[in-house]
Amino acid sequence: MKSPIIQLPKAELHLHIEGTLEPELILELAARNNITLPFPTLETLREQYEFSDLQSFLNLYYANMAVLITEADFADMTRAYLRRAQASGVRHAEIMFDPQAHVARGVALTTVVNGIASALASSVADFGISAGLIAAFLRDESEESALEILEALLTMDAPIIGIGLDSAEVGNPPSKFIRLFKRAGEAGLRLTAHAGEEGPPSYVEDALNLLGVERIDHGIRAVEDRILVKRLVAEQIPLTVCPLSNVRLRAVDTLAAHPLPQMLSAGLNVCVNSDDPAYFGGYVGANFDAMVAEFQWDAATLETLAGNSIRSSFASSARKDELLGELAAWSAAQG
Ligand code: ADE
Ligand code: ZN
Repeated sequence: MKSPIIQLPKAELHLHIEGTLEPELILELAARNNITLPFPTLETLREQYEFSDLQSFLNLYYANMAVLITEADFADMTRAYLRRAQASGVRHAEIMFDPQAHVARGVALTTVVNGIASALASSVADFGISAGLIAAFLRDESEESALEILEALLTMDAPIIGIGLDSAEVGNPPSKFIRLFKRAGEAGLRLTAHAGEEGPPSYVEDALNLLGVERIDHGIRAVEDRILVKRLVAEQIPLTVCPLSNVRLRAVDTLAAHPLPQMLSAGLNVCVNSDDPAYFGGYVGANFDAMVAEFQWDAATLETLAGNSIRSSFASSARKDELLGELAAWSAAQG
């Protein structure tokens, strides 16, 4: 590979905007909003970034959201992400946010949506990144709560392109959310769900069969089921894999043990994403760099991964063609 990873045109499809809150911005927003944090200095805050599993991370992730109060806070967080994504060579981003986590703290849905959307509205002009917004629902909350928020988003005509399903996976199977996904599909929204991060391969199957999702977020545990892998390959279901996240949350022991190379050679439609980059050691460029260092990926592999990310996105055909053209030019320049 001749050029740095920033020059590889790519889409990021698995990104929680609240997971981009860097410790410095957390402290800045806490000061701005007069909020006293349990870990009020950079040093004490950073000491908390050691995780044993998904839940240990979620505890800190939800606690840190306390600093997000105004539209400007949500807009500043979103712009900070777009700036870093640009430095990772992201040309299209599909960004999840957790509406229930904010409404539960007393922040109005309009504040959340308008803040994020105002930054996304100028993301092409400001950062050269086309963007879409995905409302992710918390699977450890009830389906009723999710349906209520979805209806509110539809009523306010929120600029969302789809819905997702996130938070604590084990014990909260896709079957809990059949009505939610049916309603979202009927409303013309695109459908994705986290599955097979910590949960079993059957959750991946259920997300496809019961929720009708078009993409699976993570999906790494699918490799444990040969028949499921065969289906995912045959249907080319996109799996939005997040290598650094999986190591930091101990879904895999080490980067060297990550199943992504095995998934690639099986013919699965995988792409590389950052999940919650402020918590897991880096943005999408850092995820690529770590995998290139570990597995010596060549230009053809990088082209496959970036091509998968672009083709698996919910962007318009015209935007996909534009980005695939940029990718072809990148490939030609690799010689
Ligand atoms: N919310 C934010 N990051 C998440 C992850 N990796 N898995 C599930 N829910 C999340
Ligand atoms: Zn995620």
